[in-house]
Amino acid sequence: MKTLVIGTGGREHALALALAKDPAVREVHAAPGNPGIGEVATLHDVDPMDGPAVAALAVAVGAELVVVGPEAPLVAGVADAVREAGVACFGPSRAAARLEGSKAFSKEVMAAAGVPTAGSRTCTLPAETAAALDTFGAPYVVKDDALAAGKGVVVTSDRDEALAHAAACERVVVEEFLDGPEFSLFVVCDGQVGRPLLPAQDFKRVFDGGRGPNTGGMGSYAPLTWLPEGTVETVLAQVVEPTLAEMRRRGAPFVGCLYVGLALTAAGPRVIEFNCRFGDPDVQPVLALLTSPLGALLKAAADGDLAGVPEPTFAAGASVSVVMASAGYPAGSSTGDVIVGTETLAGEPDVDVIHAGTACTDAGLVTAGGRVLAVRAVGADVADARAKAYEGVASIGFPGAQWRRDIASEPLGVVEGAASRG
Ligand code: AMP
Ligand code: GLY
Repeated sequence: MKTLVIGTGGREHALALALAKDPAVREVHAAPGNPGIGEVATLHDVDPMDGPAVAALAVAVGAELVVVGPEAPLVAGVADAVREAGVACFGPSRAAARLEGSKAFSKEVMAAAGVPTAGSRTCTLPAETAAALDTFGAPYVVKDDALAAGKGVVVTSDRDEALAHAAACERVVVEEFLDGPEFSLFVVCDGQVGRPLLPAQDFKRVFDGGRGPNTGGMGSYAPLTWLPEGTVETVLAQVVEPTLAEMRRRGAPFVGCLYVGLALTAAGPRVIEFNCRFGDPDVQPVLALLTSPLGALLKAAADGDLAGVPEPTFAAGASVSVVMASAGYPAGSSTGDVIVGTETLAGEPDVDVIHAGTACTDAGLVTAGGRVLAVRAVGADVADARAKAYEGVASIGFPGAQWRRDIASEPLGVVEGAASRG
């Protein structure tokens, strides 16, 4: 099978690596990709937001499966363009991607499907926002209704800060605060059937101890040994199946990865948000542990045939990813800083470098974004994988590099679950 991965980040690199490992995958192409992806795939200089161009590329390279990675092209309808060209595509249609594209829409679907989630109100006027804040009380949760790459959410006990965030957005969703450790569940969906991968945990705040602003994710690990048995089954029955049914009812079947962000509260798992794609870096450890073929799974989902393939399987042991970000992240980022040391990890059996914001220049490999790369390791357990990942981080350097020292240090995930959000 020939495959084409659309996107440029760590998620796409991890996907390209896992596809390349599938014996049925003969070729991996990517657009536009990054220097890491270029090591396992043929890169094409095509704009991921340009649906007709992506579809034309898919046809030109003879792709039998296109995987659209990021939310922006999905929300813009790039998967629709690929399907219209007659090529199988893993990624929701524009209509289904609204589950991520609009927080208000996803709340509406959750309400209609009876999915357990935080109480919420959509507000446009300052007075509405103020009333909603007082209804739910502190800590306050205010979300920009528009797509904001994981950074449009403010959780604070400072009422003025909550109001100021709302004032800076056109429309916000004000929510009840969900108390408990967070986890991510990626569910591969064909519109009808959902196949869950291993739950993972993502460390969202920029500083150790869950302090500082939210980021796209500073590190991750799987599996979550602390998650009560049966949690995944509960989420499938209470969240995924009703949501897939509701999306079908609305004429927008969800084909792709339904990323369920959850909090494990005292009352059970509650949905924090839906995304319409794999999460990064959370998916990196999940894919490191996947032992069944990824290409066959995603192709079956794209073809509406998931019932015909076996459940995905995973290795024993654990995997940890630690993100190295550039100076100034997440408020900004620093580009052009020379990265040294990645080559020392090449050939290490249990460690790999996942590229996100890197570029190849005459000066060598340089930073080209906020989250620059992640060091991912597998080990016998979380502690072992974590030690190997941090050993890898220590061998890489660039000016201004910043990373968290406490990724996967707390088995209960209490770091992000509690401390960060008071
Ligand atoms: P989101 O973009 O909706 O995932 O929100 C980003 C982060 O804000 C989440 O990962 C949580 O840490 C936090 N958050 C969002 N909604 C809530 C909520 N209702 N209760 C508590 N924390 C939340
Ligand atoms: N790691 C969070 C996200 O991908 O949105």
